[in-house]
Amino acid sequence: MQTISPGVSSTALTSDNRESHTEVFKQLIDVCVDFKLQDQIYRQRRSPEQIRDILVRELPEHPTDLAEILDDFRHSVLPLCKNENSPYFLGFGDTGDDPAALAGGLLALFTQQNLINQSFDSPSATFVEIATLRWLRELLGYTNLPVPDLTCVWNVGGLVTTGGTSSNTVAMMLAREQRAPGCMVRGVSDPGQFGVIVPRGIGHYSVRSALTWIGCGAQIIEVDTIDFRYDLQALKRTLHEHKGRVMSVVAYAGDSRTQTIENLRAVHDVVRSTDESIWLHADACWGFVCTFSEALRPRVDGIAEYDSVTVDPHKVMAVPYSVSALLVKVPEHLRMITSYSDLIMQEDFAFGQITPFIGTKPWASLKLWMMMRAHGRAGLAAMIERRMEITRAFVEAVDQRPRFLRLHDPDLTAVAFLYLPTDVDPTRPDIDRVNTVNKEIHRRLLEVGQWHLHQFSIPDPGVLRTGEILHPLRFMGANLRIEERHIRGILGHVQALGAEIEESC
Ligand SMILES: Cc1ncc(COP(=O)(O)O)c(C=O)c1O
Repeated sequence: MQTISPGVSSTALTSDNRESHTEVFKQLIDVCVDFKLQDQIYRQRRSPEQIRDILVRELPEHPTDLAEILDDFRHSVLPLCKNENSPYFLGFGDTGDDPAALAGGLLALFTQQNLINQSFDSPSATFVEIATLRWLRELLGYTNLPVPDLTCVWNVGGLVTTGGTSSNTVAMMLAREQRAPGCMVRGVSDPGQFGVIVPRGIGHYSVRSALTWIGCGAQIIEVDTIDFRYDLQALKRTLHEHKGRVMSVVAYAGDSRTQTIENLRAVHDVVRSTDESIWLHADACWGFVCTFSEALRPRVDGIAEYDSVTVDPHKVMAVPYSVSALLVKVPEHLRMITSYSDLIMQEDFAFGQITPFIGTKPWASLKLWMMMRAHGRAGLAAMIERRMEITRAFVEAVDQRPRFLRLHDPDLTAVAFLYLPTDVDPTRPDIDRVNTVNKEIHRRLLEVGQWHLHQFSIPDPGVLRTGEILHPLRFMGANLRIEERHIRGILGHVQALGAEIEESC
């Protein structure tokens, strides 16, 4: 009989080497926690070419000890990694630092459940995911079935995806099937019927990408905005002009630039009064947090009337990458995008049937389940209220400095602002000059890497010259480690860079 060589067990996890592996895992946790808590964004900055030359290496011929690999990682890879949990990283807020969520991430890694099926692949994980989806639905204001009536994935009313982009893509698939049932099997024809309305200049690219990925073609119809919300008269006109050719209207509960929250109820009413069959989708990647607090909830009034809603906990709930969800008002609608396999998934609770684009489905929801349990409703409310407090402190600090111009009153934690060069007269502004200086400030910020703000282009809502494209800087008050000294520090730094740039040109 063929004998099996014992050699392989030296690299696999076995009870014989449990102690040594556990020791390395423990050290690894220390390294991870220290990284999260390091003050700096980067411990080292290098050019892409330098990093390429350090890290793009040949596959080693011989085994390397795990402890040695970890040591090498600590010295050659980790110092170059971005730490978004740093209070100097002020452009986004994907801190991924919630301790319970981090614990959930580790548990998901070790337990290796595959939520494509339930019975043998993820007996309990599937129901943790269902519980989490129901919590998200409840916060939004969607109704849930009583637990004993939950009989299959088609009455849960949502699915977990890898991010807002995937969730929006699934929403567009639902819109397509609602407009032209059977595209899933027959393919699309007459692409002109798949128009999607988005607000001009502030839509997220994921909707356009989704339409190209699902074969509809990029049938984006942009509608003018007022203060980063749909101009409702323009929306009405556009709906009439394109009657019968619009499959969906997308509204942002927090757009990706200023996080302005749409007037969701008014948009809903305008759309429904024109065409009952249009799929109304709310992208609440940012605005979902309003549902946590009684004070903020009115800002997303009407959201529960939308056919689908995207939420993105890895952006706003300090949950590590990646976890997002698409929630649908009528759970049965998910039947429209069901796929069938004769190999697997023929069971009531197999999420693989309603999750497009993937086979193996990781237990991404465990991080969120842990986080939501750890905070409870009160903790979630406290988290968003504290972030709003940080944001208000930043607004006040910007407004006190004459060289800064704020573009909007923030609905959430994003604040877009411009540095105003001393030679620019705000009553007759040289927009090119303002943009050039602000772009150079941002370039220098990124190059040095001590601080981080985001930058994008956006139509001027009327602070310098309405409709001109501006390139503001963006602060986000989402990181709970931000203190007043960081606010003073970044504004002082931007002002110093602005003065330096003005002097040099
Ligand atoms: C409004 C909005 N929608 C969707 C997305 C895409 O989300 P993800 O990066 O999780 O795919 C973003 C990302 O910034 C966003 O701001």
